[in-house]
Amino acid sequence: MNRRDALRSITLTAGVAGMGGLLPALSSCAHESHAPQSAPVLLLEPSFDRALPILPNAPPILTLAAASATTSIRKGALSPSMSYGGNIYGPTIDVAMNDAVAIRLVNNLTVDTNIHWHGLAVPADMDGHPSRVAAPGSSIPYSFTVHQRACHAWYHSHVHGDTGRQVTMGLAGSVLVRDAAEAALGLPSGADEVVLMIQDKRLDMAGHQTYTPSASDIMNGHLGNHCTVNGMVGPVLATSRGWKRLRIVNASTARVFNLGMSDGIPMVVIGSDGGLLDAPQATRDVLLSPGERLDVLIDLSSLPAGGNAFLETRPFGGSATQGTNGVRVLRFDATAELGPSFTVPAALVPQPLIGEEQAVRVRTFDIANIHDGGHDGHAGHGSTGHTINGIGYRMERSDIMVEANSVERWTFDNSKGTEVHPMHVHGAFMRILRRTGGRGTLAVHEGGIKDTVLCMPGERVEVLVAIERHRGMYLLHCHQIEHSDDGMMLNMEVR
Ligand code: C2O
Ligand code: CU
Ligand code: CU
Repeated sequence: MNRRDALRSITLTAGVAGMGGLLPALSSCAHESHAPQSAPVLLLEPSFDRALPILPNAPPILTLAAASATTSIRKGALSPSMSYGGNIYGPTIDVAMNDAVAIRLVNNLTVDTNIHWHGLAVPADMDGHPSRVAAPGSSIPYSFTVHQRACHAWYHSHVHGDTGRQVTMGLAGSVLVRDAAEAALGLPSGADEVVLMIQDKRLDMAGHQTYTPSASDIMNGHLGNHCTVNGMVGPVLATSRGWKRLRIVNASTARVFNLGMSDGIPMVVIGSDGGLLDAPQATRDVLLSPGERLDVLIDLSSLPAGGNAFLETRPFGGSATQGTNGVRVLRFDATAELGPSFTVPAALVPQPLIGEEQAVRVRTFDIANIHDGGHDGHAGHGSTGHTINGIGYRMERSDIMVEANSVERWTFDNSKGTEVHPMHVHGAFMRILRRTGGRGTLAVHEGGIKDTVLCMPGERVEVLVAIERHRGMYLLHCHQIEHSDDGMMLNMEVR
């Protein structure tokens, strides 16, 4: 047994005995030191015993009522949750390029909430900036037109200081934007196209999800001990033997997944945050950080009827607290039915050509969080322990001024950092140029249009940022949501 297997069997034992072995280690550092504590939180291997919940589709004209709910995350247990109408999460909003969206958020919670359209370029007053929230009992009408190519965007609460909790409890959902270029490719559709919201959750012994980040969680991330898909631990999807298109969003606050298929099942990445790549990329596994989306094709046609295969998250290096173990996430059970025949197209959709020479301004963002007087374990949310360029978030202050329709070249510098920072920008899209340090290379899905980019400890990531046409106040922040709730967020004013 190697060290990894040994760790895994220890965790599994701890799991059987209850979570007693793991959680105390996480909550112990509040008044000890400012250094990030490096206790990994291992994921538990689930038993696969229930059908995967399919998130319902909805047209872009609807009411989303944010409310408390209950959902069975683990078999045999009911957990408190929050949702936009169902048991957890919201419907998948189906929208075609140039469609009008009119969504009324009704706040039936006892706390403020709002919605950010992550990956949609919308006017600033529709973007879910944390300065615009609905108080309990009130509502916000969001209306805008979608003028962008087919992609997988998502939506979630963005209340400053409470985003991590609200997203974890379930205030999130997907948006699928369609266009003619995508339709022409004849990609797997209908039951063969599945939205998978993957989120780790910390479940207590009663199977209730909890979200009370300790000081060390605010540094290392509030890592869960269970991996859920569409709100369920250990789901099973019974499906025909053929190609599937998985539309994956990492809805975790902090956990990075290294997603791959079991048994050598072919996996082909076709898209990322902002839509399809220019060409498919066959791969073994992909690191997907919080906020990122992955559009991937898998081929289940070699499975025998009654056979199965797993989507799994594999161990990975580069972080002291993440990637320590791997678990299986979702089981595909092959039915007797054969899926439609399909050949992966050789080319997908050409990428917009933005070149480095177009950049009108160069900026570097220090995201390493090496500074004194930062983490105060007792301040909790509202402290500005996490910063960008040493600056903690202030709702009313404009931090970065950019021109509408311009291109800038930015560097996210985590070269001296020890924490994982997926950096996300609103009102703009990124093209990733290069990564130095750490992995030292770009991942397969990073050739596409991005709005969130993973900066692992030791990495410097250079990107081109294409600012969209709408003017007003947007955001640049870390999508490790404990970090952004803690202040790792700046206002970006588009002028
Ligand atoms: Cu998905 Cu500003 O966030
Ligand atoms: Cu966003
Ligand atoms: Cu961060």
